[in-house]
Amino acid sequence: MTATDEKPACAFDRKADPCIIVIFGAAGDLNKRKLLPALHNLRANRLLPDEFAVVGVARRELSHQVFREQTTREVQALSATTRGPSWIDFAARLYYSYGDFGEGATYERLAAQLIEVEKRHHTAGNVVFYLATPPTVFAEIVAGLGRAGLLTERDGKWRRVIVEKPFGRDLASAEALNYELHKVLSEKQIYRIDHYLGKETVQNLLVFRFGNGVVEPIWNRRYVDHVQITVAEDLGVERRGGYYDKAGVVRDMIQNHMFQLLALVAMEPPSTLAAEAVRNEKVKVLEAIRPMSGDEVIRNTVRGQYGAGMVGGKAVPGYREESDVAPASNTETYAALELSLENWRWAKVPFYLRSGKRLGRRDSEIVIQFRRPPLALFRQAGIDQIGANRLVIHVQPDEGIDLQMKAKIPGPRIQLRTVKLSFNYADFGEQPEATGYERLLYDCMIGDSTLFHREDMVRAAWQIATPILEAWAERPAADFPNYAAGSWGPAAADELLACDRRSWVVPEAVSKKR
Ligand code: BG6
Repeated sequence: MTATDEKPACAFDRKADPCIIVIFGAAGDLNKRKLLPALHNLRANRLLPDEFAVVGVARRELSHQVFREQTTREVQALSATTRGPSWIDFAARLYYSYGDFGEGATYERLAAQLIEVEKRHHTAGNVVFYLATPPTVFAEIVAGLGRAGLLTERDGKWRRVIVEKPFGRDLASAEALNYELHKVLSEKQIYRIDHYLGKETVQNLLVFRFGNGVVEPIWNRRYVDHVQITVAEDLGVERRGGYYDKAGVVRDMIQNHMFQLLALVAMEPPSTLAAEAVRNEKVKVLEAIRPMSGDEVIRNTVRGQYGAGMVGGKAVPGYREESDVAPASNTETYAALELSLENWRWAKVPFYLRSGKRLGRRDSEIVIQFRRPPLALFRQAGIDQIGANRLVIHVQPDEGIDLQMKAKIPGPRIQLRTVKLSFNYADFGEQPEATGYERLLYDCMIGDSTLFHREDMVRAAWQIATPILEAWAERPAADFPNYAAGSWGPAAADELLACDRRSWVVPEAVSKKR
């Protein structure tokens, strides 16, 4: 498969609305690594109007000028694309406001600054507030904004709030956070962000499924044997031990990013591409996943924690030796789940999900394994077992799609070999460097919430994840650490599939050849 030259149907066909983006947590990593570079990229690609400005908010008192200079130094040290005249143009639109997030004065000061910035940049009263802070202060910030009247929409001026993950740590805390947000915001104003939904291949899933006539007819229990979704990371917890030790992989990756991938794979075709139509279908899938009882959790899930090992030829410490991690921590850094979807399309088709830190290499992919041919026609040629066809959707680091088929090796005898029909995103030519946040920020600025989690999706996802976390908490793992850094996870994860006479697709085997 290669890219041909049809006219691209581009969603970026207009500039974002005039607005100010206020970033709470302006001193943090997310702002410097992703948000400011993404906004800069949007501006450099002419997707932001001239009527646009950014206000960073953090605790420390700084002038606009010092904030601009410091931010420029830090952002440029992290990303080469943020150098040159386009950054100078962008940095001239950067402002700063400071204060403790718990104090009313912080929001009064911000309100006064927004009036000034709006006057200077003609931003039409539209504001996005981005909560790039620890989740513990989400509710406090939103309450402060509400009290200062900053969330009120009137005379066609919109106010939107982007909330970072994690959204709660279980069903009850997510419900409580939703309740706090809804005291001052309507659901339409809330954009719960998931950066996985900004990835190209993830967005391509909808196009692949619903833009190709040949795919949908076989995308169901009659033809699909099972689905595997893997999000493997080679990194450990880096400098985030404090956060991660209270989270673990189910809260950090599975409840949000991976359930969203699953929803895109399994959803029914939406009636239109309108945000609510797409999100309605996604939530139906999540609601169709049967929450597990305690015993089912033990049977259908595997958890793991990495010990010391070798990654990329370098010796790395075990999870319990990482900084800010409890020396006897029971937090899982790996999980594998077998989920059942109780709906017409997917009844009895297992969905296997796995994710972990410090695995063999960074690789995320979705494997659709089809049923074998009904008849072993080639048995006479000594070929009893024909491997199944697989569709492999590579999410990262290489983006592309492989369809694995069987073909005859040339020669007088019948001999079969697996061949790949491959499409690589690189075939579209070099793409401008992106952080993955561009699309999501732009969508929020034009009021398109398709790629954001809706309240009921968050609830449905926690309804699946919470019983797993509770069952694990009741029976602390006795064998941690149970996989070596650099391996593919605990042996029990292989057994989970072996019990069903299946096995995980090893990522190297499917993507290295491109
Ligand atoms: C974040 C998690 O949401 O996603 C991190 O908090 C994880 O722990 C990261 O490393 C992975 O994102 P990506 O885009 O690098 O796959």
